Amino acid sequence: MKKIKRIGVFTSGGDSPGMNSAVRAVVRTAINYKLEVYGIHRGYKGMIRGEFEKMTSKSVAHIIQQGGTFLRSARSKEFRTIEGRKKAYTNLVKNKIDAVVVIGGDGSFKGAGIFSQEYDIPFVGMPGTIDNDMFGTDYTIGFDTALNTVTEAIDKIKDTAHSHDRTFFIEVMGRDAGFIALKAGIATGAEMVLIPEIEGQEEKLEKYLSTTKKTSSIIIVAEGNNVGGAEKIAKAFGKRFKEHGVRVNVLGHMQRGGSPTAFDRYLASRLGVAAVDALMDNQRSVMMGYANHEVVHVPFNKTIKGKRGIGEELLRVNEILSK
Ligand code: F6P
Repeated sequence: MKKIKRIGVFTSGGDSPGMNSAVRAVVRTAINYKLEVYGIHRGYKGMIRGEFEKMTSKSVAHIIQQGGTFLRSARSKEFRTIEGRKKAYTNLVKNKIDAVVVIGGDGSFKGAGIFSQEYDIPFVGMPGTIDNDMFGTDYTIGFDTALNTVTEAIDKIKDTAHSHDRTFFIEVMGRDAGFIALKAGIATGAEMVLIPEIEGQEEKLEKYLSTTKKTSSIIIVAEGNNVGGAEKIAKAFGKRFKEHGVRVNVLGHMQRGGSPTAFDRYLASRLGVAAVDALMDNQRSVMMGYANHEVVHVPFNKTIKGKRGIGEELLRVNEILSK
């Protein structure tokens, strides 16, 4: 194994609160190991364009509390091509990068896994996404902050829903997973949660709206659910249940911003140290997961192929408490 003297770090895919905390932990741990560390701007796009910047301890000062990612992020179609990965490899060699830490979602790890099969530069990953949908880790960096953002927003909407006896359909992110929706449903006492993991929710929604005695309701709609988006559902059901005074809120990208919670900062810090430890231990193509309060190594091909189940216990808690 080639001795690692200089590493790269970048953020990739949809950004999430805590990514700055993660980059900070990688940079400071690398320096602790007397390594040089380069930030790569704008994910794989920047790797292909050669947007590399030497990092010092000062580069990551006062960012632990900042949302977003100062290295910026991007999605790169070009990296999915052999030519694109060759350009990226050329830049890594030109900048004498011996190993790389990628902070992102499963798409980012998929790219890293393919790259590491083509070129002898080890990558390790940290789960950076608000979706919490990555196999092998209890939490992804950004999920806790997004959950708190959604909870705060729904608490506010509940006030006005109650004042005007209205039913609100509130759409949240999560891609094809329902973790944000379900945990926000439990945290806010929503009357219903529509998530991609459950079939036959249209009938349940119909039954609820035609039998409930409640004068106001909160119905959280995970964007990937199989009934449809909040606008579409509200339009269809609003017409048939006029007495409910149906309204819609699509929370959108506010869920991706904001100052990371203490938990996300803590999670990002622990996984960042572990990522550099792993590289120094000659590990490659593994994600730093967090399971039962411990750091675990999850091979890229397992976290990419694996599907994180929503968990029967969480569904049961929501079922009992949403009545
Ligand atoms: O994966 C994170 C995420 O926020 C998803 O929850 C959402 O569906 C997607 O990114 C939105 O992507 P974009 O920022 O490209 O619109």
